[in-house]
Amino acid sequence: MEGFESMTNVDGLITRTEDARVPVMDRGFLYGDSIYEVFRTYGGVPLFYDEHWARFENSAALISMTLDLDKDQMAEEIRQTVRMSNAKQSGRDVYVRYAVTRGEGPVDLYPAESLTTRYVIIVKALQAWKAEFYTEGMRLAITETKRNPVTALDPNIKGGNYLNNVLGVIEARALGADDCLMLNHAGCITEASNSNVFFVLDGKLVTPAESSGNLRGLTKAAVRTACKANGLATFEKELTQAALIEATECFVTSATREVMPVRSLRLADGTELEFPAGGGALTQRAKAYYSEYVDAYVAANAQYSLY
Ligand SMILES: Cc1ncc(COP(=O)(O)O)c(C=O)c1O
Repeated sequence: MEGFESMTNVDGLITRTEDARVPVMDRGFLYGDSIYEVFRTYGGVPLFYDEHWARFENSAALISMTLDLDKDQMAEEIRQTVRMSNAKQSGRDVYVRYAVTRGEGPVDLYPAESLTTRYVIIVKALQAWKAEFYTEGMRLAITETKRNPVTALDPNIKGGNYLNNVLGVIEARALGADDCLMLNHAGCITEASNSNVFFVLDGKLVTPAESSGNLRGLTKAAVRTACKANGLATFEKELTQAALIEATECFVTSATREVMPVRSLRLADGTELEFPAGGGALTQRAKAYYSEYVDAYVAANAQYSLY
């Protein structure tokens, strides 16, 4: 049985990831002028493929980019890349990151009409999060670095320019935390560097309002749907740091983290809020409901398996 190998597809050329190349004049490299999505497979089934594509098209629209390939073409290219990785033979699930750049052109901020987009699909092993992130929880810190305002670089552009989030996580690590929790310019909680956040406030599950400026996470949406189906209401609210003093639980969500408990949150003034190790009762329920929701999705979409 052949072993798994991370593979990358650049405009149809599939190679080992370490050998994949993009020209330096690509606008993705020059300006971060690109968009992307990340999903993972479960038993070979790509989780929420359609929803990811819809968000991808929305990102394209938000940056006035015309895509040169459609959902089915992308799916076929992903399938070929996964096949070459031997994921099936090695019996493992994969992380898939697909990106489209605005293409290669002259050094000129204005994107010429004649540009052709370039796609890059990376298939690699699933992210190995530290076990203690689940058994204990992550440590978050509110940073001085603010989330990009919606009117500057809309957080719903899932784009190749993640400097805002990179700076946030660098600052958080310097504060001794694992990840940042960024405020917007009005002082409202937005999200972590690459995940959405939930709190338990007054016994209720609450997540920052979209209007605060955060990415419409697909895991967050699925968690909310799954909780609702099980009679557990969730709420969206504009949340300031002051409101968090009363929080009794906290967790983050993303495609690769799923539901990940938060152990502590450092506020801007240095106050440390502590939450139950491994997640409190509502975190555990949200986690279990999400897991059931994923299982049902995978069972209903088995025909789309990439293997
Ligand atoms: C900034 C940001 N917020 C939230 C998320 C979570 O989104 P999803 O649940 O769709 O993975 C991500 C995922 O990469 C992200 O980059």
